[in-house]
Amino acid sequence: MTAYRLTELLYEGKAKRVHATDQVDLVAVEYKDDATAFNALKKAQLAGKGELNCRISALLFEVLAAAGVPTHYLGLAPEPLAANWMLVRPVRVIPVEVVIRNVAAGSLCRQMPIEPGTPLEPPLLDLYYKDDAFGDPLLTEARLERLGLMNADQRRELERLALQVNAVLTGLFQSVGLRLVDFKIELGITADQQLVVADEISPDTCRLWDEAVADSNDRILDKDRFRQDLGGVVEAYGEVLKRIQGVCPQPRVHR
Ligand code: TMP
Ligand code: ASP
Repeated sequence: MTAYRLTELLYEGKAKRVHATDQVDLVAVEYKDDATAFNALKKAQLAGKGELNCRISALLFEVLAAAGVPTHYLGLAPEPLAANWMLVRPVRVIPVEVVIRNVAAGSLCRQMPIEPGTPLEPPLLDLYYKDDAFGDPLLTEARLERLGLMNADQRRELERLALQVNAVLTGLFQSVGLRLVDFKIELGITADQQLVVADEISPDTCRLWDEAVADSNDRILDKDRFRQDLGGVVEAYGEVLKRIQGVCPQPRVHR
């Protein structure tokens, strides 16, 4: 038996549900098997994806915490909740998607004259306004300020945290033969006003290429397999989990 009880559904997104519990400092996140792309124009159910993303996120949050990056993560959920549930601290998520790009891919190459695969040094940091109704548009500093989404201190802290996440995760993935091409994170503010990494970090939200594979499709181990109809999506996510499990301890269970 667990020491808490699930109460109401706080939020349902495309890939997760967030549930309140009867403890004010504890929120339960349920990772769904739903896959969407292109602002949900493309949809599928991929059995096992929720559990894989939950475990991958748990391991990555633990690696980040060990490196001093604050996150909302507390641990995997104990039974009777299933393996696609984790427990986190409640946060107010800032509606900004922070994208760091180490190698040019995706929307950058559709919007700019930059060849896919071009290394980006220093990494490129892009902010997008998280709102499906507007199609998550690219933000400028002036628009960010106009929307009042964060103050100047939080803006600086956001950049510092995002670059630290990039450094830590680039090193981790490199150690298991994966190239962290780009990724998206979301940040939240805790009850005590701390800025923390929230949401998830998984092959749904990262581009990961197998360093040992030359073919530009075969090397993809992330959601681009779904976006581009390459097949083997769950298998690719399973490969990512297997590799990071090889260098990380078992994720903790929060009791
Ligand atoms: P992009 O190249 O499509 O802008 O994506 C950059 C990174 O952000 C990539 O790793 C995928 C991730 N991402 C999300 O996590 N959610 C999204 O809605 C989008 C568009 C991208
Ligand atoms: N997550 C977004 C969607 O569902 C876009 C994407 O990841 O490609 O539509």
